[in-house]
Amino acid sequence: MLAVVNTPNGPAPIELRQVPEPVPGPHDAVVAVHAFSLNRGELRSFRNNEEGWIPGQDVSGVVLQQAADGSGPSAGARVVALTDEFGWAERVAVPAHRMAVLPESVSFASAAALPVAGLTALRTLRHGAPLLGKRVLITGAAGGVGHLAVQLAARSGARVTGVVGRPERAAGVRELGASDVVVGIDQAQGPFGLILESAGGASLATALHLVEAKGAVVVFGNSSGEPTSIGFADFRGGQNARLQSFFYFTSGPEEQFGPDLALLVSLVADKSLTPQTGPERSWRELAHVAEELRDRKLGGKAVFRVEA
Ligand SMILES: NC(=O)c1ccc[n+]([C@@H]2O[C@H](COP(=O)([O-])OP(=O)(O)OC[C@H]3O[C@@H](n4cnc5c(N)ncnc54)[C@H](OP(=O)(O)O)[C@@H]3O)[C@@H](O)[C@H]2O)c1
Repeated sequence: MLAVVNTPNGPAPIELRQVPEPVPGPHDAVVAVHAFSLNRGELRSFRNNEEGWIPGQDVSGVVLQQAADGSGPSAGARVVALTDEFGWAERVAVPAHRMAVLPESVSFASAAALPVAGLTALRTLRHGAPLLGKRVLITGAAGGVGHLAVQLAARSGARVTGVVGRPERAAGVRELGASDVVVGIDQAQGPFGLILESAGGASLATALHLVEAKGAVVVFGNSSGEPTSIGFADFRGGQNARLQSFFYFTSGPEEQFGPDLALLVSLVADKSLTPQTGPERSWRELAHVAEELRDRKLGGKAVFRVEA
């Protein structure tokens, strides 16, 4: 079958190649991948993995073969799935508990935007529950995680302020449900009960000055690549606030991935969550689009169609 493989020493970081078919374990279904999406974190994984490795975490497609232990969706089901790797291929083996069935109304493209970004948005927001009436600040609001987090927070009754990097991104974020959008975190007026922080560096340092007493700053990324220097005095305005780290893959019990994916799918189906996927592209455009993502030229999520 064809798959995207890592080529760290090649002219592009990845290329399409023929690879062996996946070998499912007893609890794995085999999925024919129709679409997948790209996450900022995966740009780093190109550099950190060896030649020939197959990346890919967010996939949607059709179950070709149900897990041998009888668990999970049966053959023919349209599904969205979260894999740790190997997803950018014509076929992938996926643990049965890391899938959710898609209703006909949810496209493969919308679904492919959900696993890593949607689970991260959902679960970082849970650190601020209850959200009804709470002021929530979301950095990277126009990005893959951010645009879903803005919608989920607003739908949960929070008053959302989104932080974007450029003025032209602001209008789209307001449409997603943010009551305020600021260009740069320096422009945000605190205090906030919950802050989702993924830019790192100076943004994280500023976030500590914007959190309210007993509020929470959830640190889940470092898009800037910059370190942050913090001290006890930074919490003077937000006394007893919590600095919470977040890693989606260990953020809950394994068996909760399927139900949380199903929740996200149901919100897309009832139109209370709309992944911003832009034009769907061929997976042959992946290396080029990865560059655009790295250079902050993309908003929302880049989604790719898998073609033979
Ligand atoms: N811990 C976890 O489990 C987990 C899970 C998912 C993602 N993450 C991390 O969370 C972050 C967001 O992920 P994502 O997939 O939403 O990424 P994304 O689609 O690239 O969005 C990131 C957003 O951050 C903004 N940003 C601000 N400062 C930036 C900088 N110096 N460099 C790059 N972007 C900057 C960009 O805003 P503008 O477009 O307005 O410039 C961009 O929209 C990444 O750091 C990612 O690695 C962590």
